[in-house]
Amino acid sequence: MTTISPLRDFIVEFTKIHDSDLPPQTLQSDGASLLKKLVSRDDWLPEEFARPSPERYSQYLLHCDPLERFSVVSFVWGPGQQTPLHDHRVWGLIGMLRGRESETQFTRDADGHFHATETTFLEPGEVAALTPGINDYHLVANALNDQTSISIHVYGANIGGVSRATYDPDTGAEKTFISGYSSEETPNLWDRSRERQAA
Ligand SMILES: [Fe+2]
Repeated sequence: MTTISPLRDFIVEFTKIHDSDLPPQTLQSDGASLLKKLVSRDDWLPEEFARPSPERYSQYLLHCDPLERFSVVSFVWGPGQQTPLHDHRVWGLIGMLRGRESETQFTRDADGHFHATETTFLEPGEVAALTPGINDYHLVANALNDQTSISIHVYGANIGGVSRATYDPDTGAEKTFISGYSSEETPNLWDRSRERQAA
């Protein structure tokens, strides 16, 4: 049985630090600590936001700040699924919840060509950061061939509505996209009666 309260607590705390006007770097590092706490346990993500699709990886909106200053998304990777090389254009945090994910970062030359710089693996409980101008180009994949992997991402905007790009890693050719989300639904964070019943 899942309990939504860790996600609700995370969103409340993240909103508070956002409202305290921190410099962007501090917001991102304080936010990373909150995300680390959220992914330190795996009993809160409702099953409908943890469901893989056979066609492609899924991105479920868990919460969008009413002023669209940040969003929280569960990325669900079926076996073998991966993203194309892409950018974000806003800060991001990746917290590994379940399974194992590989992230290959790229740099872009002045002539527009890309070079892979390093591939790292994220294990449950670990958090990574993305910052425009520093490490905004990457390709992410499920590192497991036989099971679903899930990571929780936080971005400095309503990421599903941001116009950004995918790239051909060989030619550098750019294709604009707006990702949207894989579902029209978001979790209900606010039904306090369930916790009272469980207590
Ligand atoms: Fe990404």
